[in-house]
Amino acid sequence: MSISKEEKYKALLPIIQSLLEDETDEIAQMANLSAILQQEFGFWWTGFYRVMDRQLVLGPFQGPIACTRIAHGKGVCGTAWAAAHTIIVPDVEQFPGHIACSSESRSEIVVPVWRNNEIVAVLDIDSRELNTFDAIDEKYLEQIVSFLYPEEQDIWFAAGCFWGAQKFFKLVKGVIFTEVGFVNGNTENPTYKEVYTDTTGHAECVHVRYLPKVVSLAELTQLYFKIIDPLSLNQQGEDKGTRYRTGVYYKNDKDLSIIKTIFEQEERSLGTKLLVELLPLQCFYTAEEYHQDYLDKNPNGYCHLSSSIFEWVKQRQ
Ligand code: SME
Repeated sequence: MSISKEEKYKALLPIIQSLLEDETDEIAQMANLSAILQQEFGFWWTGFYRVMDRQLVLGPFQGPIACTRIAHGKGVCGTAWAAAHTIIVPDVEQFPGHIACSSESRSEIVVPVWRNNEIVAVLDIDSRELNTFDAIDEKYLEQIVSFLYPEEQDIWFAAGCFWGAQKFFKLVKGVIFTEVGFVNGNTENPTYKEVYTDTTGHAECVHVRYLPKVVSLAELTQLYFKIIDPLSLNQQGEDKGTRYRTGVYYKNDKDLSIIKTIFEQEERSLGTKLLVELLPLQCFYTAEEYHQDYLDKNPNGYCHLSSSIFEWVKQRQ
């Protein structure tokens, strides 16, 4: 029994994801992506046009030679770019302005490739049959091209005193921004002094923004466990109080299962339940400026983490 197109896409997703994950050069990624799609589905032409100088320029592809430049709004590719959504063409002869790079092409799909909020390329696939593409191709191809430029992601780690925790996460490759502040408490815009009373409910926390292409959430969570004592309630090092409790706070529901897996691994290796919160982010307030990058500003300042952990994290990448 032959497997359905949807099952084929589903099986390909993790393979494609790992194929792209190990490479940061977009041309190399587009080249392999064209190859795997063309090979698996036997399309006639599979490839990318990249947005360059306000036009589409031919990029990596598989199949016969193709036209090299397409203007904004022209052909199926230029129309999908201008309309900013996927276009399925069941019969190319019925599409006004279709650009026939090859007379063999009968149907086509063009999927925009987004980088944050901007279209930077389109994926174009041609078939020698009519009516090849439908909503299933649209759904999976959109997901596949989204792997090319995964957006920046955010996660919040409470790890005791936030001075050392920020210094640690800043050293992790793939972390592009950090700030310290107060997480999941009961008052708005608390000051450090207020949080220090231990009555506002907030915990000291580092907001970490990262590129999942370079460092995954699972890796970040594993690293987090290198700087905390997960069995110590409301105390890390000499710092005591609910403001020094440990926790991981997420905004995306899909992050929960990833973090949970790492928590479970830790629990198994320690053989006991962790005393670390794992909760949706309710609020985060940035701390006063003098707390930001505190140990850069005050290299001899107080730090509850040992200096060897900073050396270790620097060397691991
Ligand atoms: N048919 C496309 C042009 C590119 S080739 O199909 C490879 C279009 O109309 O934009």
